[in-house]
Amino acid sequence: MIKILMVCLGNICRSPLAQSILQSKLSEDSFYIDSAGTSAYHIGELPDSRSIDIAKQYAIDISQQRARAFELKDFDLFDFILVMDASNYQNLKVLARDESDLAKVDFILNYSLPNENLEVPDPYYGGDSGFNSVFQMLDTACEALAKELNT
Ligand code: 4NP
Repeated sequence: MIKILMVCLGNICRSPLAQSILQSKLSEDSFYIDSAGTSAYHIGELPDSRSIDIAKQYAIDISQQRARAFELKDFDLFDFILVMDASNYQNLKVLARDESDLAKVDFILNYSLPNENLEVPDPYYGGDSGFNSVFQMLDTACEALAKELNT
């Protein structure tokens, strides 16, 4: 079983989408995908309604997810830890206990646009169109990642 953790700040907008988009492209028998936030702001909450809505438009249901905070043991449990932006990366870099922890962390968009460390922008304070573009970026990156994992 390959285990992948998607990480953003609140675990209510971007990483819940990334979790379910990637899972929709991979077999549940071979891949376990989860998500977490680097903050504790929204623990236990449903995803943002705008993320639920955009996922639904693409026949993906994220409404069963509940936000949780990243824990140190996630470095042990997961093979890949994929962040949305540079501040998520920095937050995990501070928490990483050694080089092997940090080696698991990468920017998710590096799968579609290699070595650029590009960011999935935080859509929380914007309008609905931000959620659509976040969905498209994540879908393209997850498609490339799923292809890589399946080969
Ligand atoms: P996320 O978006 O990191 O994609 O879940 C955010 C959600 C909430 C906040 C910031 C970003 N917040 O400041 O509460």
